Amino acid sequence: MGILLGVDYYPEQWPEEMWEQDADHMKECGVKLVRMAEFAWSRLEPEEGDFRFEWLDHAVSVFKDRGIQVFLCTPTCTPPLWAFEKYPEIIQVGTDGRRISIGIRGHRCMNSPVYRTLCERIIRQLVDHYRNEEAVIGYQIDNELEANHCRCAVCEEAFRDWMKEKYGTTEQIDQAYGNSVWSGEYSSFSQVKPPMGDFIKWQNPSLTLDYNRYASDSTVAYLEFQRKLIHSLDPKAQITTNSWLCENMPDFYDLFHNLDFVSYDNYPTTMIPTDSQELYSHAFHLDLMRGILQKNFWIMEQLSGAVGSWMPMSAMPVPGMIKGYALQAVAHGADAVIHFRWRTAVSGAEMYWHGILDHSNVPGRRYQEFKELGQTIKQLQELDGSEVVNRVALLYSSDNEYGFKLQHQAEGMYYLEQLKCLHDGFTGIGVGVDIIDERASFDGYDIVLAPTMLIEHSGTVKKLENFAKQGGTVLLTNRSGVKNLSNQCIMDSLPTIYKELAGVHVTEYNAAGARTGKLRITDAQLRGQYGQICTNSFLREDASSLQTEHQDATYKRWCDILEADTAEVLAVYGDQYYAGQPAVTVNTYGKGCVYYVGTVPDRTFYMALAARMAQEQKLSFRDDLPLGVEITYRQKQDTAWRFVFNNSDKPQSISLEGNICSLKPFEMKIDKICAKGKRI
Ligand code: GLA
Ligand code: ZN
Repeated sequence: MGILLGVDYYPEQWPEEMWEQDADHMKECGVKLVRMAEFAWSRLEPEEGDFRFEWLDHAVSVFKDRGIQVFLCTPTCTPPLWAFEKYPEIIQVGTDGRRISIGIRGHRCMNSPVYRTLCERIIRQLVDHYRNEEAVIGYQIDNELEANHCRCAVCEEAFRDWMKEKYGTTEQIDQAYGNSVWSGEYSSFSQVKPPMGDFIKWQNPSLTLDYNRYASDSTVAYLEFQRKLIHSLDPKAQITTNSWLCENMPDFYDLFHNLDFVSYDNYPTTMIPTDSQELYSHAFHLDLMRGILQKNFWIMEQLSGAVGSWMPMSAMPVPGMIKGYALQAVAHGADAVIHFRWRTAVSGAEMYWHGILDHSNVPGRRYQEFKELGQTIKQLQELDGSEVVNRVALLYSSDNEYGFKLQHQAEGMYYLEQLKCLHDGFTGIGVGVDIIDERASFDGYDIVLAPTMLIEHSGTVKKLENFAKQGGTVLLTNRSGVKNLSNQCIMDSLPTIYKELAGVHVTEYNAAGARTGKLRITDAQLRGQYGQICTNSFLREDASSLQTEHQDATYKRWCDILEADTAEVLAVYGDQYYAGQPAVTVNTYGKGCVYYVGTVPDRTFYMALAARMAQEQKLSFRDDLPLGVEITYRQKQDTAWRFVFNNSDKPQSISLEGNICSLKPFEMKIDKICAKGKRI
């Protein structure tokens, strides 16, 4: 299919007379795909059982006539008002036990049998109607599915069933949860209920973790109900759902398991941080999405203008951003970039979430840039079938994310930030990272980064041990091995089950929060690398304001005060009552080695550590990349494409094969180069 440029289009929101002109403009820009019918249930079924497809048929034919394909959506995120009026039991119930207010979207109970019947009917009609229409190539299921947190009676029962299935008896639950605390013991299954009320964080974390797992399973079951139905009617249809990083996240690996590909709604920030220590690259999110099915993915919604509506409007994308961010997604494995949305809505709640065209409908600066993007994408068609191949894996785990969210560990310390720091360290030296499920295989990698393994999964420990034994490099961090699978603390010194691997143990820890402290690098090689990066790269400008001899790095958030058992010390704390005690170590394990980072160091430190690990594994890297310059590769057989992206709002220059290459803000330079084997 090549690399597809697309837009999200809502024909039901515009007079029919505008459709042809819109489609002509899209064609002129190189658009090859439109996504439609996402929230159009009330137009498709204005009264129960009265289905209307004429308008959508017309819209499909307008695009088909211009060589533009169509991706349809099951419109189930927004049931029509008649459905809520007739069947109030399909409305979600909140943690206060009351049905929430309608008029928004996504406020339906995914488990409600009545709602499921209504969904089944509209999906049957839709897929049946279009299964022989060759312009319709697939379906997006629903919209941005969150884990099902509905607390209605049906969902309460579903949770109870999930618990019965998992534990069998209430005694088993009591034991797994340690329910003797605060008289939490169950005397009957009737007392097993989802956590309710405003004080969820005061409830037993064993219960709340299980509830999150159930909520994810519940959404996956809903998605599967839709997927099976669509496939039974149209086996050739491509099926996906569009995801984002929301508050109540489903487990992405479970969610996408049976889908054809992952889709992501990509809204990178338009506000570039002034602090060079801040992490802002969207590369992390793109790598996370590619890693879900470990293959290329789609951007189902891509930033096209300022975002806003339920918050103050963001800055407009500056010149270069629309094109640059879209190509950044391609560089990280996106095979389609579908822009949200064609024209900014003039009505409805989202009228300030801007599209390619403004309310005026006058093609402007962003339209011209989108058109340029279309030209570039046209030249990238030979990328079809190319993939991103990396030697570094970063482990993500839904359980750890839930665990961290349920019990905030220290001020400003977030699970994803811990992952991003490491991702940023490798990105900063031009080494690509795959973000993968902790349950995935580590085959094909040289380095596995396993940050914040809060909740122990013995399978992961075994895999990491084998990986290191065979010569791999592993990195572990603070907050690992803290809890068992039931979310109870493990009674052993940290990092408990990772102790042998790390060759250290934690004598005490301290939640440092936002306070910054000193980290003294004692290892000569690492100190040299840190200094080198300070001098060469982005810190050049403010190196003097940092550390004079490049000897001291900084830390914040967390301090594990370590005692090295078999490990070698790389850095020690430079202040507090634990000054001089180990903070970062490396342990030889089998043919490989295992790093342990007890704290959260600054960006440069992560880059220096990444450089040391890359060197050990003989991966090529650069310690001279200017701030924000990202290098990625896509490969196909013997060919590789190198993407050099200036992800900053300042001009940057970088040396490539001995020549200085200048990049405007957000400019992407793409070269075709030869790949020697699979390693670049
Ligand atoms: C999400 C949704 C879209 C739209 C945008 C902007 O990504 O999927 O339908 O609402 O946000 O708000
Ligand atoms: Zn419910």
